[in-house]
Amino acid sequence: MQIHDKHFKPFITAPQIQERVSELGKQISQDYAGKNPMFIVILNGAIVFASDLFRSVSVPCTLETMSAKSYGSQTTSSGTVTVGAHIPNVHGRHVILVEDIVDTGLTLQRVTEVLQQQHPESITIAALLSKPAMHKTKLHLPYICFDIPPAFVVGYGLDYAEHGRNLPDIYVLDEEHTL
Ligand code: PRP
Repeated sequence: MQIHDKHFKPFITAPQIQERVSELGKQISQDYAGKNPMFIVILNGAIVFASDLFRSVSVPCTLETMSAKSYGSQTTSSGTVTVGAHIPNVHGRHVILVEDIVDTGLTLQRVTEVLQQQHPESITIAALLSKPAMHKTKLHLPYICFDIPPAFVVGYGLDYAEHGRNLPDIYVLDEEHTL
């Protein structure tokens, strides 16, 4: 499978993703019963994961979005994070940040810092993917679908130069076929 100049090979299938997302939704429903959690989707990549996760949660909850952009090359994070102007009102709420991937963790660290200023009741993180070998922060990550090696992945919301987000499966960069 090719996107722009790079080749990718299958990595995590749509059924595998759906199974884990459903498990995570059940776990969150148990842990947040009676807490009316606020899900905050970190745009853009997490939209696809969030739409499936949110529908697998069976307890009353609300949905918000925030934008955060980490600038770097097209396949690596830089550590410079810009948070958008729209900040949901989280005062007194149990917040669940929804991310597609935790790479360095700097995006989630920055978003958490910004939200803490409004004194939420709690903040936690639900992420589709995490690359433990790349973490530069000590985030508590109780709700991760898949820990993966530090390879570049696309699909199910994740992009390469903005393309590939619509793919139902997740693909990994095929180093052998990419110059
Ligand atoms: C990606 C991803 C996370 C962040 C992870 O966002 O969606 O938000 O990088 O990297 P980090 O843990 O090293 O901070 P990106 O800025 O590429 O925006 P996008 O979601 O619109 O693709």
